Amino acid sequence: MMAEVANIGFVFFLALIFLIAPIQSENSTFPEQIHIAATEDPTSVIVTWITFASTPDSTVLWRLHGSAIKLQPVSGYSTNYTDGAVKRFVHRVKLSDLKPSTKYDYQCGSSANWSSLYTMRTLGSGPDYSPVFLVYGDLGYDNAQSLSRIRAEVNAGGIDAILHVGDLAYDMFEDDGRKGDNFMNMIQNVSTQIPYMTLPGNHEYSQNFSDYRNRFSMPGANQGIFYSIDIGSVHFIMFSTEVYFFTDFGKEQIQTQYQWLEEDLKKATTPEALSERPWIITMGHRPMYCSTTNSNDCDHKTSVTRTGTSDLHLYPLEKLFYNYGVDMFISAHEHIYERMWPIYDYKVLNGSYDAPYTNPKGPIHIVTGSAGCRERHATFSPKPDWVALTSSDYGYTRMTVHSKTQISFEQISDDQNGKIVDSFTLIKEKAGYY
Ligand SMILES: *[C@@H]1O[C@H](CO)[C@@H](O)[C@H](O)[C@H]1NC(C)=O
Ligand SMILES: *[C@@H]1O[C@H](CO)[C@@H](O)[C@H](O)[C@H]1NC(C)=O
Ligand SMILES: *[C@@H]1O[C@H](CO)[C@@H](O)[C@H](O)[C@H]1NC(C)=O
Ligand SMILES: *[C@@H]1O[C@H](CO)[C@@H](O)[C@H](O)[C@H]1NC(C)=O
Ligand SMILES: *[C@@H]1O[C@H](CO)[C@@H](O)[C@H](O)[C@H]1NC(C)=O
Ligand SMILES: *[C@@H]1O[C@H](CO)[C@@H](O)[C@H](O)[C@H]1NC(C)=O
Ligand SMILES: [Fe+2]
Repeated sequence: MMAEVANIGFVFFLALIFLIAPIQSENSTFPEQIHIAATEDPTSVIVTWITFASTPDSTVLWRLHGSAIKLQPVSGYSTNYTDGAVKRFVHRVKLSDLKPSTKYDYQCGSSANWSSLYTMRTLGSGPDYSPVFLVYGDLGYDNAQSLSRIRAEVNAGGIDAILHVGDLAYDMFEDDGRKGDNFMNMIQNVSTQIPYMTLPGNHEYSQNFSDYRNRFSMPGANQGIFYSIDIGSVHFIMFSTEVYFFTDFGKEQIQTQYQWLEEDLKKATTPEALSERPWIITMGHRPMYCSTTNSNDCDHKTSVTRTGTSDLHLYPLEKLFYNYGVDMFISAHEHIYERMWPIYDYKVLNGSYDAPYTNPKGPIHIVTGSAGCRERHATFSPKPDWVALTSSDYGYTRMTVHSKTQISFEQISDDQNGKIVDSFTLIKEKAGYY
């Protein structure tokens, strides 16, 4: 009986949330879709939000979490863009001189309207920093199955940042971008608390990735299409596999990105860089290897991102990553999870037979595209010998960087109530080339 009363209360509570949740309205100056992003500098973050009418200013009010001082204003700027019939104003404010692993309270908006008060936690730094990331791709607005579990993990306080490996909302541009608005409001509870880092997937292609480029504030000068960021002992490289496929938007983008990747890898692999950040983890939306059926690249032995374009195999990424000793390539796109043995050019390169991920002789690929979207699941072909494990459950990956020599991965199944359906530890005693 008590439980029933509580349930009725809960239903009313949900109804109330839907009623008071900010609803995008054409002319509103109320800030919504608030999210924070890490920058190249660990002492600053960027707060981004949207309004549907222009505002007199773009301001964040902030203070140390729990402090009694008055909230301090910092101003930023706004841009606007149009998707179909809807114009959006995107506001960005950079907060600087923040302390690592520290909570701050903040509100955003303008003198027209202020958001509620949120609390964010900054990323850490230093040799003992052991960040935990949730990593996934293919989280849609419809059938966002893993989201409540992701929210619960973030609300419990143990997660440092989200890494969303492409395909958001399904599709952001739909209904003049309102699908994107709904998605951003849906993840707001998470994205106001910790950095929500993204890269573009095929579902972001519309109008040359315009919704994606306008809505996010990723590091670097390429509107979030490709960038790198150092967090703790990891150098993350996020890039677009889509430049290889949507060539109508400009074939030259393949070369531009490839040259940037090579420059970035050169900088990341100097002895000084490697002694501080021995881990190099790359992320892009489409896998180089997969064992699913009806996939549209990774099931080909000469996958375009892996082996390069045309008969000449230009700009092949597997070779580039292998040559620079990249530790991992994490992708999504296939709506499943799978983990490969260390591999290069379809040859398994186990470190030692008993412990294949101890000092592996080649990069490790995982595919984590099962967060939940309206396209449901992919199906697997019979398991090839280069695949270590597959899972069709909805879920996401939890990645813990323990130290400069150890990273562990856990695949969380949402279908099985949070059960860990895969876990492995990557151990690397010496940084650098294979
Ligand atoms: C928004 O403003 C325009 C004119 O500025 C007006 O025509 C329109 O009806 C307004 N829409 C709403 C929902 O208030
Ligand atoms: C929208 O952005 C353009 C530049 O892209 C700018 O010229 C214009 O003033 C902006 N509109 C408003 C209403 O702020
Ligand atoms: C935004 O501010 C206007 C007045 O400037 C007010 O009428 C409106 O209710 C506010 N909106 C919200 C959602 O608080
Ligand atoms: C939103 O986040 C807060 C923590 O900031 C948490 O207490 C609350 O339960 C969350 N709400 C939902 C619906 O997840
Ligand atoms: C698409 O955007 C990219 C920048 O991301 C730009 O280099 C390219 O020229 C654009 N292509 C078209 C057709 O507008
Ligand atoms: C790699 O290691 C795994 C686990 O020990 C083993 O099952 C697999 O056969 C090994 N592959 C090769 C080619 O050594
Ligand atoms: Fe995809």
